[in-house]
Amino acid sequence: MSSVNSPDSGASLRSSTGPDTGAVLVAGSEWWRSAVIYQIYPRSFADSNGDGMGDLAGISDRLPALRDLGVDAIWLSPFYTSPQNDAGYDVADYCDVDPRFGTLADFDRLQREAHDLGMRVIVDIVPNHSSNEHAWFQAALASPVGSVERSRYIFRDGSGENGELPPNNWQSIFGGNAWTRITEADGTPGQWYLHLFDRSQPDLDWENPWVHDRFRDVLRFWLDRGVDGFRVDVAHGMVKAAGLPDYTPPADAGSMGGGLGDELEAGEAQIPPYFGQEGVHEIFRDWRRVLDQYEGDRALVAEAWVEPLSRLAEWVRPDEMHQAFNFTYLETDWEASALRRTIDTSISAFGEVGAPSTWVLSNHDVVRHASRLGLDDSGPQGAGIGPLTPGKPDAVLGLRRARAASALMLSLPGSAYVYQGEELGLPEVIDLPDAFREDPTFFRTAGERYGRDGCRVPIPWEPGVPAYGFSPSGESWLPQPGDWDDYARSAQAGRPGSTLELYRTALRLRRERELGLGAVEWLPGFRDEVVAFRNSGVTVISNLGEVPVELPSGRVLLSSEDLREGVLPTDTTVWLVED
Ligand code: GLC
Repeated sequence: MSSVNSPDSGASLRSSTGPDTGAVLVAGSEWWRSAVIYQIYPRSFADSNGDGMGDLAGISDRLPALRDLGVDAIWLSPFYTSPQNDAGYDVADYCDVDPRFGTLADFDRLQREAHDLGMRVIVDIVPNHSSNEHAWFQAALASPVGSVERSRYIFRDGSGENGELPPNNWQSIFGGNAWTRITEADGTPGQWYLHLFDRSQPDLDWENPWVHDRFRDVLRFWLDRGVDGFRVDVAHGMVKAAGLPDYTPPADAGSMGGGLGDELEAGEAQIPPYFGQEGVHEIFRDWRRVLDQYEGDRALVAEAWVEPLSRLAEWVRPDEMHQAFNFTYLETDWEASALRRTIDTSISAFGEVGAPSTWVLSNHDVVRHASRLGLDDSGPQGAGIGPLTPGKPDAVLGLRRARAASALMLSLPGSAYVYQGEELGLPEVIDLPDAFREDPTFFRTAGERYGRDGCRVPIPWEPGVPAYGFSPSGESWLPQPGDWDDYARSAQAGRPGSTLELYRTALRLRRERELGLGAVEWLPGFRDEVVAFRNSGVTVISNLGEVPVELPSGRVLLSSEDLREGVLPTDTTVWLVED
């Protein structure tokens, strides 16, 4: 077990290398309540062996940069054995590392070095479905109808006279039918299996206690190795309504089921029979009991696309998960009254159950916020943007707003998630050639939805070198744009006003002033287009209107744009203190 979490480690470890940003790993601190957690998408972070695919050794080598940025923890998207049909969210072995990414020894080194640098490590767990190449699914295919092996997945007879039609009308989140028919061992057309995502991602049957046992084993495997927590993929999808009733989502629902919040509040819409079912909570209570058997503060965070926030808060009741991603915040328009409402509702909904709110603006499934905030309409979640999408993002406006939005997010109490590259102000890559695209969404909708590749392009480290330093060979699994020199980390480091410096300053001040543990006190006297509050003695003002706002007296700690003449221009956030 990692010494970080061991009871006799003296409860804290101070980093021995890197600049002292004050990071300490304190046991019993409930670190997750206020942590800034940095999402690493392993394929696209750093490639150590030059094959164009990022890997665990590459991440280890680059950890000092994250220490320098000042994050408290890293969350690694899946690096497990996988045929990579959904970039690793199709797992063929939950307890091993895919050779593309390295070995378990590489993982151990990464975790040890992160801990030594004062950063926690969260890994992804994908329990809703496995890969079709997982031995469990292969055994199910090889076994007869009604067998124990089939009962681990959701196999059903088809409808229609000869079972030639799918068992119900569910559509895959990635487009197309959510059912695939198999050919039985004797060559006859057979049963159908459910896959809420790609056909290579069969859904596990969480009605089956065997599945519960296996995932408890998986949790323990990684907890024993010393991980500090899990991000739980599709936590809202694991249990399906009895009888698998037909369901047609409303046209404006995002691909993960978002957009239902208002209708649910008005009592008009059904909850999808495959999302947000009551039965999921018993699973998380069970998982919580597993985590609680380990010392240290191991944490569970739910990827749950559930609205409204009062329902999402059920995921983080005291005996369930510790955190849930606040996708309502991510999806809130760049509009002051909407943001104030979401901030208020988030803090009160999560506060009701004693949980911190989380905040997130970007991840590997959505259009990067430096582009999203420069669009009139970003379309449904997961659809992405591409060469033929009407209305290109305004890059200058998008980046300006992204910087203001990030400065606002990082001033809020609770825990914030940062997706790799947003600290560089990276935009979505829109003009990827189709031949390079890998997101199953693109293929399952015959290109109608571009999908998520545009936010997954390998990130730039140094200007003027092959692949911007992502890989030593210049290879990159998705092509990087030719004009990313200025976004490169080393080009921004130490450059006053750069997005990287804005994030570094925000993270340092957030830590020093304990903003993550504070509270929001709204400030009166500002125009409606302004978000203004005080948190832990820091006054935060975001001007989302066109009219410049006169700044109150005080010393400017941070500003997302240059300030002149004591006024706050449009799309700018400032942090002030009176001293
Ligand atoms: C989650 C992941 C996404 C993946 C899907 C299926 O939403 O974030 O990337 O495609 O689950 O596992």
